[in-house]
Amino acid sequence: MSDDTAAGDPGAPEPGAPEPGAPEPGAPEPGVPGADGVPGHVAVIMDGNGRWAESKGLPRTEGHRQGEATLAEVVRAADDLGIRWLTAYGFSTENWSRPKLEVDFILSLHKNIFDRRLEMHRNNVRIRCIGRPVAGTSRLPRRILREMQESVELTKGNTGLNFTLAFDYGSREELVYAARNLLEAHLREGTVIDERSFEQCLYEPAMPPVDLLVRTSGEQRLSNFLLWQSVGAPFYVTPTYWPDFGRAELGAAVEWWRGVPQGDPAREPVPKGIARHAKDA
Ligand code: FPP
Repeated sequence: MSDDTAAGDPGAPEPGAPEPGAPEPGAPEPGVPGADGVPGHVAVIMDGNGRWAESKGLPRTEGHRQGEATLAEVVRAADDLGIRWLTAYGFSTENWSRPKLEVDFILSLHKNIFDRRLEMHRNNVRIRCIGRPVAGTSRLPRRILREMQESVELTKGNTGLNFTLAFDYGSREELVYAARNLLEAHLREGTVIDERSFEQCLYEPAMPPVDLLVRTSGEQRLSNFLLWQSVGAPFYVTPTYWPDFGRAELGAAVEWWRGVPQGDPAREPVPKGIARHAKDA
């Protein structure tokens, strides 16, 4: 990575990152449903950019470029459908092992998505990010971290779609991050260790459980994505490569979700009202 990275700064949360364990004031309650007949929280694993490009005789980077445009379209489509939360797997902690040129290209596309922040702001979309940047341990270039922070800051008062980009993200790392923060809170102030207090220590405490998990390009794997939040989420797998996944296919996924029997107890949010501090118990 170039000198322009934020490596070597572990443990220092980025400015504006939520205090671990602190519920965000005014945050939507977990389990807030979407509009009638629409999942409240859709999470997408955007796979198949490379294969899409190769199938057309194009370099893999073209697949990623088109993938970014598709993501922007899916954000608009999710908003139009009345979905309240959309979380997209933009760059995983495992993606760093790809060739440097490909990594650099994907990172430049993340800049593109943040360059669209003004359009999202006009549409009342709230941009959030989960991943190492929240923990202050990201190796992402500083200019991308800055753009990310500006996007989060600019849109934090918005009340429409919550668009979360999982960015230098790995779910196992998130669980370790939460465990460490909860343990510290427990030792410091006697915070009770239970599911609700643990959830408050994840990268994005306001994020509700996933109602519909989508993966493109046919793979049936979670790939270290939202392990806690997706427990019990129906899994829609489509053979379509991500660059071809647009408004129509999001609609098809929602249609599929409508036919899935609801009521898996694992999909319920962690119950409210559980004491967070030993002294309150
Ligand atoms: C999978 O394609 C996708 C990624 C590696 C993540 C990057 C996502 C995008 C570039 C689209 C969204 C853009 C932004 C800005 C978040 P792959 O390369 O694994 O495809 P393959 O399995 O066919 O090789």
